[in-house]
Amino acid sequence: MLIDRSASLHSLRRTRARHISYGMNHMLLRSQAFINGAWRDARDRRTFAVHNPSTGELVGTVADLGRDDTRDAIEAAHAAWPAWRARTAKERAEILRQWFALILEHRHVLAELMSRESGKVLTESLGEVTYGASFVEWFAEEGKRAYGDVIPPHTRDRRLVVIKQGVGVAAAITPWNFPLAMITRKVAPALAAGCPVVIKPPAETPLTALALAVLADAAGMPAGVYNTVTTTRSHDVGLELCEHPLVRKLSFTGSTAVGKQLMAQCAPTLKRVSLELGGNAPFIVFDDADLDAAVQGAVQSKFRHNGQTCVCVNRVLVQRTVYDDFVARFAAAVSALRTGDVLDPSVQVGPLISEKALHKVQAFVHDAVEHGAQIVEGGVHRGGLFYAPTVLANATPSMRIAREEVFGPVAPIFAFDTEAEAIAMANDTTYGLAAYFYSRDVGRCWRVAEALEYGMVGVNEGLISTELAPFGGIKESGMGREGSRYGLEQYLETKYLCFGGV
Ligand code: SIN
Repeated sequence: MLIDRSASLHSLRRTRARHISYGMNHMLLRSQAFINGAWRDARDRRTFAVHNPSTGELVGTVADLGRDDTRDAIEAAHAAWPAWRARTAKERAEILRQWFALILEHRHVLAELMSRESGKVLTESLGEVTYGASFVEWFAEEGKRAYGDVIPPHTRDRRLVVIKQGVGVAAAITPWNFPLAMITRKVAPALAAGCPVVIKPPAETPLTALALAVLADAAGMPAGVYNTVTTTRSHDVGLELCEHPLVRKLSFTGSTAVGKQLMAQCAPTLKRVSLELGGNAPFIVFDDADLDAAVQGAVQSKFRHNGQTCVCVNRVLVQRTVYDDFVARFAAAVSALRTGDVLDPSVQVGPLISEKALHKVQAFVHDAVEHGAQIVEGGVHRGGLFYAPTVLANATPSMRIAREEVFGPVAPIFAFDTEAEAIAMANDTTYGLAAYFYSRDVGRCWRVAEALEYGMVGVNEGLISTELAPFGGIKESGMGREGSRYGLEQYLETKYLCFGGV
């Protein structure tokens, strides 16, 4: 069904989000994909079901698109490109700002939908809507500052100029742990730079992505500029996005293994790629740290979305002189976390996303205990996909959790003696996304911040994400940056113009 834009905008406006509890009939709940300004099924009519990880309830049924459908979306985006890039940045910003306003206006419905399909607790889902919307607002403005350059020439009769132009059709493959913000963080800069987008949301959370498409359409996005391809056929759809020559840029957030595969698939057409991949974040507590602040930062960073973010703490490294004190305080704070119904605003920790994730967490805890770790808190399955927030003392580098990303609510605590040892332990990983440390010695803060081989470092801070700063990793955590002016660069080509005979 196609929605009439003025009617939909009107009824969206009438929707007072705070009065609405999300229901199956709400107009933001869609079952079809969005291609070339129209809602449509898969050509072969396949569909798939979306379940609530918290309760197992059916949340919705969605069109399961394949390679041909994806090709339609790419071609529609390419056809829409000339008119979209011809608009001024200010004209594009007007639509983006309208989209931003609509997202915020419907934040309660979006958050509830997100919680139901992803198992994210409601307070965090509300936070994610605001966080996600902030990228739209920020890039609406930053698109106006895609400045070029004038270079003093090397001969009198020449003028050398650099201009910035959008790369063309941009594909975004997004993860389930941030059903909304990872879409806006990729597509807002693309759209601001004049690039049409084809989004492939994950099979776990397609409904939030479709709700965003409803709002993008209502905001006035021209047909073909914004496309959403829902699918369980990730391999086929991913292959089409990587291999199609009309796609000029791929941005992916997900595992390192899949990121490497996508990069290889993009190589024959030499696409530009941005990859935001896995991490193995260390959280270092020096003995000169404010321990209460460190405990608070560690709890926030470790248990955000139940440990299921790429920047969640994976290893807590504590100086031996304060080790026992920190472990006791941290375990007490973790035991106070409330687990339960994700729609209850007082609940802080929800379920894991899947059985596979639950088994991985259990296997990591089992392996750590076999290698000598002591369970200080948690360590138990609480039914369904719920696993108790867990603290493991006496962790050592021989454990799996020291090397691999647990992506769950388990905090292993390692001991170290010196600053040099802490840095060496923190850097002893193939990953390089986020790292954190706590110290009140300003000299040490500089030394350690510079020595950590990571794309992002939180110094006396456990939550560092914002639309204003560059998000991204080094080593096998990926390449490219999202958010900030660096995020816009990812969707711009640099063109040099040489004017002769002046
Ligand atoms: C992620 O886990 O991929 C994103 C986390 C964030 O934006 O803070």
